[in-house]
Amino acid sequence: MKKKILILPGDGIGPEIVTEAEKILNALSQRHDLEIEIEHGLIGGSAVDAAGSPLPAETLEKAKVSDAILLGAVGGPKWENIERALRPERGLLAIRSALGLYANLRPALLYQELADASTLKPEIVSNLDIMIVRELIGGIYFGQPRGIRVREDGQREGFNTLVYSESEIERIARVAFTIAQKRDRKVCSVDKANVLEATELWREVVTKVAADYPNVSLQHMYVDNAAMQLVRQPKQFDVIVTTNMFGDILSDLASMLTGSIGMLPSASINETGQGIYEPIHGSAPDITGQNKANPLATILSAAMMLRYSLDQPEQAARIETAVKRVLADGVRTADIATPGMRSVSTSGMGDAVLSALD
Ligand code: IPM
Ligand code: MG
Repeated sequence: MKKKILILPGDGIGPEIVTEAEKILNALSQRHDLEIEIEHGLIGGSAVDAAGSPLPAETLEKAKVSDAILLGAVGGPKWENIERALRPERGLLAIRSALGLYANLRPALLYQELADASTLKPEIVSNLDIMIVRELIGGIYFGQPRGIRVREDGQREGFNTLVYSESEIERIARVAFTIAQKRDRKVCSVDKANVLEATELWREVVTKVAADYPNVSLQHMYVDNAAMQLVRQPKQFDVIVTTNMFGDILSDLASMLTGSIGMLPSASINETGQGIYEPIHGSAPDITGQNKANPLATILSAAMMLRYSLDQPEQAARIETAVKRVLADGVRTADIATPGMRSVSTSGMGDAVLSALD
């Protein structure tokens, strides 16, 4: 049976980068009998404009019946000051939550050809391969109560709630340990247990879960130290497991170790293996419409989709190999450009990957 893929381009550079990934998927489906059926939908600010909601009911219905979703990016200055419930980011958070996508995998992998594009010294980042496992539908992003209220003294105050239940912590810890078993068998759990009770419990539960994975070593680290260690000596890490907000921050940090935030794909998966695949970067309003954005994070997200939700590891590897070839050939978008390399546009990069596919 054909696998159903829903494509949600979103806002800003979203449509441009997603078009390139779609080209690759179509080529694989023609050349290698990949049985897929692609549909499109609206999300984010463009959905607010067209349908009055950042996650229209129609999009959610399509998402529920799809095997996997490929998403571009959401947000932009146009929607920054609209009513909170209509903001583009709310659409993204709502679809993650509605589909139960609690496990967010963000691999920070350095392509050797890009060692010079990193702002860190090549010897610090060469062969870097970290997997950040971010809890995605709990913690301070979703905790209640939340809001902005007026105090008795007339001042306004903003408030959010950081809350994690034992079962939420346990299931994300199991994902991290399971992934570590297929890698270097090291998990670093990142928290702020010295200050925040929610993460004191996090540490306790992760430690308990670790007993079921005796071949994986577990280390705990406070988030401030983890941020420092990531730029000091990033290769000490194998798998990092952490809360929603810490994962958001540390994954942006880790992306720069690999040369550019334009390189990092992600997978957000639920209990059934269904997932949303998206680059970790945002909608980049400053370069929207200029055919300048790096589509590789999205193309690599499509590869993750084939591997994790569509059970097509060979096709995933085909895409990843093609990306490596293109980088080895010196093809670069602006964000990863270094002297002597061949500069290409967004579509130029997509075409290069397409012709490097075997
Ligand atoms: C990400 C993004 C989102 C997040 C935003 C757009 C809501 O930064 O996927 O990392 O904070 O999760
Ligand atoms: Mg982020």
